[in-house]
This record gives sequence, C-alpha cells and structure tokens, in this order.
Amino acid sequence: MAGKEAPAVTPWEVNGEIDYDGLMERFGTEPITPELLERVRQHTGRLHYMLRRGVFYSHRDLDTVLDHYEGGGRFVLYTGRGPSGPVHLGHLVPWTFTRHLQEAFGSQLIFQFTDDERMLIRDGIDEEAAGHWVLENALDVMALGFDPEKTEFIVNVRHAAKLYPLALKIARDITYSTVRTVFGFGDDPSLGMMFFPTMQAAPCFLASERDGEPVPCLVPAEIEQDTYWRITRDVARKLGYPKPAQVHGRMLPGLTGDAKTSSSQPLTAIYTTDVPELVERKIEEADTGDHPARCPMYQYRNLLLTENDDETHEFYVDCLEGNIDCRECKARLAEAVNRFLGKHQRRRRLIRGSVEKMLE
Ligand code: TRP
Repeated sequence: MAGKEAPAVTPWEVNGEIDYDGLMERFGTEPITPELLERVRQHTGRLHYMLRRGVFYSHRDLDTVLDHYEGGGRFVLYTGRGPSGPVHLGHLVPWTFTRHLQEAFGSQLIFQFTDDERMLIRDGIDEEAAGHWVLENALDVMALGFDPEKTEFIVNVRHAAKLYPLALKIARDITYSTVRTVFGFGDDPSLGMMFFPTMQAAPCFLASERDGEPVPCLVPAEIEQDTYWRITRDVARKLGYPKPAQVHGRMLPGLTGDAKTSSSQPLTAIYTTDVPELVERKIEEADTGDHPARCPMYQYRNLLLTENDDETHEFYVDCLEGNIDCRECKARLAEAVNRFLGKHQRRRRLIRGSVEKMLE
C-alpha cells in the first residue's frame, strides 16, 4: 500500500487493517501449508476448525516439533496473558486452539500471567488489581476445558523463583541495544521493561531445564507477540535449549470494525462476563461490513463461535445473496454468543475453588 504507513504491530499495540501475508513476510514466519496440515491430521484425526479455516495460518518450527513428537518425544505448550482487565472473546481464540492441542497431543501446558509486565508498563496497574485479574482471567482459561493435571499456571511475581534462574541466563546474552531495537523502545520505558522480556522468554526453556533433555516448546499466540520469541530463539542455541516454535492465529475484529478487539475500548469488545442484554446491545450497535470477510458478525462465527463448517458457510452465502439482512444476522449472532457465554459463565462459577488452588 504505497504512501500508507505500515500498521503498528507490537506486543502492546495493534491498529489498522491487518494484512496477514504481509505480517508473515515482515516477521519472517512460514505459512501452515496443506502438507503440514496433513501431518497434523495424522495425529489428531479430523483437523480442528481453526486449522481447516486458516484461523491459525502461520508458524515457525511446527515441523520440527512434529519430528520430535513422531520420534517418541514430548513437547510442551506455552501461552499466557497480561492480567490487566477482563477477558473478551478475542482472547479465547488462541486459548481455544491451545486447549485442542493439549487434548490432541496430550501435552503439558504452561500458562503464564505477566502481572509484572502489567505493573511495569506506563499507566500500569497495582499489585492488588493484578491479583484480582489473575484469578478472573484464570477462570476464563480453565472454563475452556484445559486438563488441570496438565496445566501449570505461572504468575510471574508470585512464582518468580521458577523463572528467575533462566531469566538471568537469557538476560546475560541479550544486550540493551537489541531490546531497544526489537521492541522499538524509545526513552520512556522503565528499567523493568528492559528486563521483562526475559521473564516471558524463560518458560520456553523450563521443561528442558526440568527434564535435563531437550523438550520442544510450542507457543500458540497472535503474531504480535513474535518479538519475544525472536530474541528467545536467538539465545536458545547458545544456552543449549530447543528454539521455541510458534503457531500464529488471526485476530478477532472489534465490533466497530477495528483490526483487533481492544480491552481499552469497552464497547468494541464482548467480555466473557457480559450479561445477555449487554451482549445484545453491543451487537445491535456494532458496525457491519460490506462483505462477510470484512464483517465482524461473520468473523465472530468463523473465527470462534461456529465449529460447524456448513453453518458458517450458510451465513456466508445467505449474506452475499441477500437472504438474510444485517438485523436478523445480528440477532442470531447475539443468540449464539449468549448461548456460548451462558455455558462459559456457568463453568466459571463451578471451578472457582479449584482454580484458586491452581494459582497458589
Ligand atoms: N505478554 C502477553 C500479553 O500481554 C502475555 C504472555 C505471557 C503471553 N506469556 C505469553 C502471550 C506467551 C502469548 C504467549 O498478553
């Protein structure tokens, strides 16, 4: 796009219309090819809907992880969340896929809460607020059905000792100028933000460190977190650990047509704790697109809510052929969201006690 500035994609800000091929090129990642999908399918049976539809579209070293797995080795999954506020539907896209991978491959999951990061960023939150959001967010994670026996929460401040020895090794090999360049830091980030990336990198190596042998780590996340893995991959070889692998997912659009659902703009997002009336109102007031591919109503179904391909396809065709108008489409989406959230909220209530224990 000549004359137009490339949209910002850093871990802290994602704006503008997203060109996913451009992102793969910019970050130097690989597309998930039909051959690779076929390899996954051999282990998982029918492909997960997020793979069938290309919601997860890009990777690094997924093939290497599969080599290791096919050779009889294990790999771990790792993802996380900055606990600064409530979880919205967009957050559930990568977590839903992670849960599928845990089940399909029987993998251990490390789920990190970067409360330190949320305290360190400009206009960050205090320890008490972070603690509140860690529990609230962990409920959303576990409500998706992760296996508690195979899921380890690491809350950075509380569990710092698990990560600090690794963080130090990583920090020793990354210079100030590298961090400054890759994260695009100006003069304002705090000293803590310079060190923080090592705390997000450390879980990538934790399983190898514990097992005393190489255990590959696969990180399902949105591509905006890529910067962390780039520096982690750079130091991996030197430290004798496998480079962390990644799979990258698309981002759920905001309800007002923004490129990404943003927590700082409450009306553009549906939170997991929203009551049905609020969901209806948000969707009623949402912007629609001129084509399903550019319409949040369709994307909410396609990326997250509707597992059934025929049903998704039907909405696509009905929209294009004018068999359904936006008002009805919205009403039916609101119903689908509320059905989904009804179950999710019930599970959240049921698991509170056990999730509190997991966080100790
Ligand atoms: N920094 C991430 C955020 O702000 C949270 C996070 C920690 C994360 N570890 C991760 C995200 C691993 C993806 C994968 O949301």
